Amino acid sequence: MARRDAPVATPPEDSMKIGIIGAGNIGGNLTRRLTALGHDVSVANSRGPHTLTELAEETGATPVTVPEAARGAEVVVVTIPLKAVPDLPSGLFDEAAEGVAVIDTGNYYPKERDGRIAAIEEGLPESRWTEQHLGHRVIKAFNGTFAQDIIDRPLPKGHPERLAFPVAGDDEAAKKVVRDLMDELGFDTVDAGGIDDSWRQQPDTPVYGIRAGVDAVVKALAEASPERPEAFRA
Ligand SMILES: NC(=O)c1ccc[n+]([C@@H]2O[C@H](COP(=O)([O-])OP(=O)(O)OC[C@H]3O[C@@H](n4cnc5c(N)ncnc54)[C@H](OP(=O)(O)O)[C@@H]3O)[C@@H](O)[C@H]2O)c1
Repeated sequence: MARRDAPVATPPEDSMKIGIIGAGNIGGNLTRRLTALGHDVSVANSRGPHTLTELAEETGATPVTVPEAARGAEVVVVTIPLKAVPDLPSGLFDEAAEGVAVIDTGNYYPKERDGRIAAIEEGLPESRWTEQHLGHRVIKAFNGTFAQDIIDRPLPKGHPERLAFPVAGDDEAAKKVVRDLMDELGFDTVDAGGIDDSWRQQPDTPVYGIRAGVDAVVKALAEASPERPEAFRA
């Protein structure tokens, strides 16, 4: 339910139905920007839609339950603490639109938040672990992006200071949908390969948190080490 003075965006011709699961730093700011672009956004958290009234009034997004966020969605953003991923309902994407692109923004922070996850400590890419719990392929995007940059740093295509973010995933069609959406949001992207390669953009890698353009992101991805850094081990 949009407040009377909430920003009313003209839906773009290719307006998409987007579900956002997680309404924190990243989920909240993606809700703000995607509604401003005219997309049909539903947003969910762990406590229920009644706790999302303020964000809904601010943005015009629809507050929903987690299963409702995925229902009929062409894009679903999963942006919750990694340790909460196994709590999401099974079959979450069964009623999503065909070919739904599922964005995973997650990072493994074992010491301060997520606790020890053995499979990841043993070398499984974080997004592969998430995929296994979701039962659906994911596109890893925005995981190294400062949440505030989603609001503060969008720039038009071709601008010399436009930021670039790496995007990894095995579903090429979904990856294209996500990269196009990020372009619309005001960011360049770099194809960082499949999920087997996605360790290159995990926490503490050279690309993680970088604020730079395409060339620097390509270089940073190439310089990554597969060794999990000590700060991100439990
Ligand atoms: N903060 C950043 O700048 C940043 C940047 C890049 C990537 N990331 C990564 O992106 C993910 C989200 O980060 P964040 O900083 O946005 O998190 P956050 O501010 O802590 O927000 C987490 C959100 O997830 C919701 N949530 C938790 N468990 C849930 C569940 N079982 N079902 C549905 N919703 C659930 C919370 O809802 P309730 O409040 O109702 O519990 C809350 O809305 C993390 O993996 C983080 O490492 C963060």
